[in-house]
Amino acid sequence: MRNVKKQPYTFKQYNPDIKIVLQIRTFQPTDMFSVIKLANKSLTEQYNPSLFNYFYETFPQGFIVAEQHHKIIGFIVGVKITQDTTRILMLAVSEKYRRKKIGSMLLNKFFEKTLEEHIKQISLEVRVANEKAIKFYQKHGFDIKDKIQKFYQNGEDAYLMKKK
Ligand SMILES: CC(C)(COP(=O)(O)OP(=O)(O)OC[C@H]1O[C@@H](n2cnc3c(N)ncnc32)[C@H](O)[C@@H]1OP(=O)(O)O)[C@@H](O)C(=O)NCCC(=O)NCCS
Repeated sequence: MRNVKKQPYTFKQYNPDIKIVLQIRTFQPTDMFSVIKLANKSLTEQYNPSLFNYFYETFPQGFIVAEQHHKIIGFIVGVKITQDTTRILMLAVSEKYRRKKIGSMLLNKFFEKTLEEHIKQISLEVRVANEKAIKFYQKHGFDIKDKIQKFYQNGEDAYLMKKK
């Protein structure tokens, strides 16, 4: 685990939608402020900032950011539930960069990392009203498996989705 932190995984990928090379890499503590800012802007649920440090400490391979010109424009966080299962907790792309496959790049990189970790099952929860995210996850092979009543802080229900 220590090695992962010292040598962040970095992958440069050309994104034809915005005609730039993006850096997809594991989260580093210096990204903390930008990631929290993006989470607060993009996600309805409010998260305690200390949680982000916990994610990084416990499963650094599952905390991945997209960076353009030293600016964080997207991130994904997953945690390990058991030895071979993970749960995606957050995924967000900065509003002006949406629909340009950056979310897909982050999710695909997350899939690669989970394969390396021999993860067999990936699950997540999404608001039942978040049709865009549901379509996004369905496009990436997730199915709705259950509905969880009052899952969110504001009382909204969630769909439990699992990767096929
Ligand atoms: C969900 C989210 C991460 C998607 O990221 P993105 O970079 O915009 O998604 P992509 O460009 O990779 O989309 C891939 C595919 O997902 C589907 N999709 C993505 N956004 C969609 C939308 N707004 N409406 C319908 N389908 C959508 C499409 O099938 C799309 O492929 P296409 O553009 O070729 O049709 C982004 O919209 C976001 O940050 N939303 C706010 C936060 C959120 O809801 N997070 C998820 C819940 S935790």
